[in-house]
Amino acid sequence: MTALDLSFDLPDPESTAALGAALGARLRAGDTVLLEGDLGAGKTTFARGMIAALCGVTDVPSPTYTLIQSYETADGIALLHADLYRIEDADELNELGLEDAFDDSITLVEWPDRLFGRAPRSGLTLTLTLAPGGRTGHISGGTDWKDRLDGFDPRG
Ligand SMILES: Nc1ncnc2c1ncn2[C@@H]1O[C@H](COP(=O)(O)OP(=O)(O)OP(=O)(O)O)[C@@H](O)[C@H]1O
Ligand SMILES: [Mg+2]
Repeated sequence: MTALDLSFDLPDPESTAALGAALGARLRAGDTVLLEGDLGAGKTTFARGMIAALCGVTDVPSPTYTLIQSYETADGIALLHADLYRIEDADELNELGLEDAFDDSITLVEWPDRLFGRAPRSGLTLTLTLAPGGRTGHISGGTDWKDRLDGFDPRG
């Protein structure tokens, strides 16, 4: 069995937000999405699209300073949006208590390298990179994700 490996052209912020909404429709409690990419790559734009679609919230701030913002989906699942850019060591990460949420919530993590190797193994990774004319999105995950994202349409 091969693992999941999908790539998408994301020509504008709207298509990145639409990818978030489309992926959100495939998620369930206990899923973690690791959002990789440089400053300004579009991680928060993606998260905003998902949170608008799942939680009906349209004024989603970047969690740059709060580190975690909490939402609830229409189905009553907690959705956490974290930005770990300012986390400097594992002790700070522990104080945040983010890992406690991994089992029961949908968790979106910007700067997942600051999980210091404690990202859930079952997580799905979205890597956003600057590309001529916008961004490229690359989704990777294990074989279970390959089944769950069968026929996935990034436009929803
Ligand atoms: N194709 C695209 N997808 C997403 N954002 C885009 C795209 N093209 C241009 N942009 C712009 O790039 C910026 C992305 O900002 P965003 O806050 O989403 O990035 P980020 O990866 O969360 O950054 P940070 O690491 O600072 O949190 C926005 O201003 C957005 O309008
Ligand atoms: Mg961001």
